[in-house]
Amino acid sequence: MDKLFLVSFLGLLITAYAVAGNMLYDNFNILGELEDLDIAEEDAELFEDPFWISERGGKVLVNVDSFGAVGDGVSDDTEAFRKAWNTSCSTPKSVFLVPPGRRYLVNATKFQGPCADRLVVQIDGTITAPDEPNDWDPNLPRLWLDFSKLKGVVFQGNGVIDGSGSKWWASSCKKNKSNPCRGAPTALTIDSSSSIKVKGLTIQNSQQMNFVISRCDSVRVSEVQVSCPGDSPNTDGIHITGSTNVVLQDSKIGTGDDCISIVNASSSIKMKRIYCGPGHGVSIGSLGKDNSTAIVTKVVLDTALLRETTNGVRIKTWQGGSGYVRGVRFENVRMEDVANPIIIDQFYCDSPKTCQNQTSAVQISQIMYRNISGTTKSKEAMKFACSDTTPCSNIVLSNINLEKKDGTAETYCNSAQGFGTGIVNPSADCLNSNDKGYIHIDHKENKVELAERTGDRIIHTEL
Ligand SMILES: *[C@@H]1O[C@H](CO)[C@@H](O)[C@H](O)[C@H]1NC(C)=O
Ligand SMILES: *[C@@H]1O[C@H](CO)[C@@H](O)[C@H](O)[C@H]1NC(C)=O
Ligand SMILES: *[C@@H]1O[C@H](CO)[C@@H](O)[C@H](O)[C@H]1NC(C)=O
Ligand SMILES: *[C@@H]1O[C@H](CO)[C@@H](O)[C@H](O)[C@H]1NC(C)=O
Ligand SMILES: *[C@@H]1O[C@H](CO)[C@@H](O)[C@H](O)[C@H]1NC(C)=O
Ligand SMILES: *[C@@H]1O[C@H](CO)[C@@H](O)[C@H](O)[C@H]1NC(C)=O
Ligand SMILES: *[C@@H]1O[C@H](CO)[C@@H](O)[C@H](O)[C@H]1NC(C)=O
Repeated sequence: MDKLFLVSFLGLLITAYAVAGNMLYDNFNILGELEDLDIAEEDAELFEDPFWISERGGKVLVNVDSFGAVGDGVSDDTEAFRKAWNTSCSTPKSVFLVPPGRRYLVNATKFQGPCADRLVVQIDGTITAPDEPNDWDPNLPRLWLDFSKLKGVVFQGNGVIDGSGSKWWASSCKKNKSNPCRGAPTALTIDSSSSIKVKGLTIQNSQQMNFVISRCDSVRVSEVQVSCPGDSPNTDGIHITGSTNVVLQDSKIGTGDDCISIVNASSSIKMKRIYCGPGHGVSIGSLGKDNSTAIVTKVVLDTALLRETTNGVRIKTWQGGSGYVRGVRFENVRMEDVANPIIIDQFYCDSPKTCQNQTSAVQISQIMYRNISGTTKSKEAMKFACSDTTPCSNIVLSNINLEKKDGTAETYCNSAQGFGTGIVNPSADCLNSNDKGYIHIDHKENKVELAERTGDRIIHTEL
């Protein structure tokens, strides 16, 4: 929708204001807000001098091999990595180098900052984890490679971070109910850091989550590949928690859980040109577990292809939580054989016990879905399962076309309020608009319809 159209539309709206009431005006505001929602992608502000990254001169190479790393995939290279990190971290303009063509076996390790200026972590070889859960360092049960307290650091290279997770998956309670339920390590964590760039790496076969960005500000991730088998338990691709101003782009993710998950205390998150499959889709959540409070705002997914995933774009919250999800736009998404292409689930329950409904829930509002098309595997192409006591509000659907190959697609709503503009297929009439007015914009005919729910009064206006 171009600005000119909006301006003339606003004129029309003012005329119509008296007719259809406040609701339309609110809808219009929300539409505008959601359409304008943007997160800057430039990374100029990330680094004082963006050109230093490509500069050749003045760099100090800190090669793990010089600290005794063997790189045969069998010898324990942990100590060499720790020593190399210490040297690299304390040397300005250094490059922590994991050279190509070798496999380095490294135990759970904390790579801590703060470091001297202009550190580059160049991973060209493969880093692998010991594969036996029983030998894992009991002091670091949830970490493998953990980087923290860094500022202005670039992680790059064509290398691979391989969690060797198959024994961990087999010992998961999701795989075998007689196993105890316990968390497994995250392959790569970047924690409590700012102005971080991650480019080109491959992260695979993680013990649990592949790549976690926690408590960070200003992170740019591009051309990253994440891969785990589709049946590996809880192997989220990229998990963002407690972080702001994060852009993920041009990345290909296939896992056994969410390709991307965004949870509590995250805002201004942008995902662009993402491929997801296999996996559980792109998720906000889960949020509100064990009556916790969660806030997630300003999330944009622009241009994605999801293939044979169990969900497409999802927001999932547990009963009993509090807080809110507000200001989200999912757009230009192609779904291929996705089980739940568009889903809000406020009854999420990833627990062996059934979860009781409660009066409190994480509130969901101002969620826009725009230009989303493709095929759904389940009948319910769109599902808005919202809490009876905390309804979803201002869900905006614009140009949706989801089809079921063998049958008819449907929309399910419980306690969900919103409206549609443009084509919405399957129709989402079950989004109750709370009062009489709704807007229909016919792009082909350049016509706006303002209608009352009661149906007895429809105004057609040429633009
Ligand atoms: C690295 O530096 C830390 C902090 O100065 C020190 O505690 C640790 O022993 C050093 N590790 C190695 C392997 O040199
Ligand atoms: C790596 O882990 C193994 C198994 O727990 C242990 O034997 C070894 O000492 C660890 N290496 C280092 C450098 O801590
Ligand atoms: C589940 O684990 C139990 C106990 O370790 C084992 O006896 C059983 O064979 C496992 N089942 C499967 C399906 O792997
Ligand atoms: C959510 O984030 C807020 C702000 O960082 C924090 O205080 C709170 O403990 C977090 N809640 C959970 C459940 O992690
Ligand atoms: C959450 O709150 C409900 C209602 O107050 C209570 O029944 C339930 O035990 C609480 N659950 C947890 C995990 O604290
Ligand atoms: C709609 O989304 C598809 C799939 O991402 C994209 O190819 C197409 O250009 C988008 N259409 C518009 C009008 O932006
Ligand atoms: C919770 O509420 C929803 C919506 O009213 C309903 O479909 C579901 O069956 C309820 N679940 C439980 C466990 O009572």
